[in-house]
Amino acid sequence: MKILVTGGCGFIGSHTVVDLLNEGYEVIIVDNLVNSKIDVLDKIKKITNKSVKFYQYDLCDYTKLDSLFKEEEIDAVIHFAGLKAVSESVEKPLMYYENNLYSTINLLKCMMKYNVKKIVFSSSATVYGSPKSLPIYEDFPLSTTNPYGTTKLMIENILTDLYKADNSFDITILRYFNPIGAHKSGLLGEDPNGIPNNLMPYIVKVATHELPILSIFGDDYDTVDGTGVRDFIHVCDLSYGHVLALKNKKEGLKIYNLGTGQGTSVLELVKMFEKVNNVEVNYKIVGRRDGDIASCYASNKKAQEELGFKPKYNLEDMCRDSYNFVKSNR
Ligand SMILES: NC(=O)c1ccc[n+]([C@@H]2O[C@H](COP(=O)([O-])OP(=O)(O)OC[C@H]3O[C@@H](n4cnc5c(N)ncnc54)[C@H](O)[C@@H]3O)[C@@H](O)[C@H]2O)c1
Repeated sequence: MKILVTGGCGFIGSHTVVDLLNEGYEVIIVDNLVNSKIDVLDKIKKITNKSVKFYQYDLCDYTKLDSLFKEEEIDAVIHFAGLKAVSESVEKPLMYYENNLYSTINLLKCMMKYNVKKIVFSSSATVYGSPKSLPIYEDFPLSTTNPYGTTKLMIENILTDLYKADNSFDITILRYFNPIGAHKSGLLGEDPNGIPNNLMPYIVKVATHELPILSIFGDDYDTVDGTGVRDFIHVCDLSYGHVLALKNKKEGLKIYNLGTGQGTSVLELVKMFEKVNNVEVNYKIVGRRDGDIASCYASNKKAQEELGFKPKYNLEDMCRDSYNFVKSNR
């Protein structure tokens, strides 16, 4: 089975490509490398001993994407490509709407044209806005607090409308919680271009003295220690969720949370990182950040029951593997 992985050089995409190759799928990556590096392809080969075909195309370029679909007989698509930095999306909303929406519409148009009807889409827990209770179930009301989140929700709506119009589509929407960690080999991990937007790459850069101090936004939330609580999930557990989604026999439009179901506070994560890696992480508490919520963790019951999704890595593994990746690549 030939799988087109958009954004396959990125953090979650690269781990998923490894899983797909290990499971015997043929993989084609399309990525414009706006937030990733070409050497990821060699690293994937080192881990799996298998090669992938790579197209350095921008999905916003319909003509190129069309030529790719013409050339390759694609059976299914996993769509990771997109811009993902919340604060940047607030500063540059048009860039986010343009990139994330145009790319997806082009992709879906090509899928229609070439009769490729199976897609797995990377959505996010951010579509739950401020949840009414915890844990978060898939049927909770949806809302967003920033342009990035709005692009995810808009794409979910586009996919839902597409399915209503043509129910031969087989669509899986995966709502990720907070992926961290890295591949055991130390070869793949989160390696953002520029200053990290996500917590774990920031923690790692402070631990390695590339950045001076971590700011923790707020310690007066109604949580175990006042800092925000999130559902951190090892990227290898998350990536395997995509293989399970491809193998799922259930047809139609399906939506699953991918999280561990465990809430961990930001401070608990920092302390665990220090303990596991025997390092110090310099941090300061600053005021709350606009749009942040106190707690967010998933119910993963539906993914467990319908996909057989069962995370196997714990917080220690996540902290160890994240640090190992950066140490191995310095
Ligand atoms: N990492 C997270 O915390 C998280 C949480 C929820 C959802 N997601 C979503 O999962 C997906 C993957 O996230 P990630 O953490 O691996 O991000 P990432 O930035 O590491 O990977 C995204 C990849 O897409 C590529 N890309 C972006 N726009 C493109 C375009 N127009 N054409 C071609 N390639 C393009 C980038 O170069 C990058 O390699 C994203 O859609 C993201 O929004 C991520």
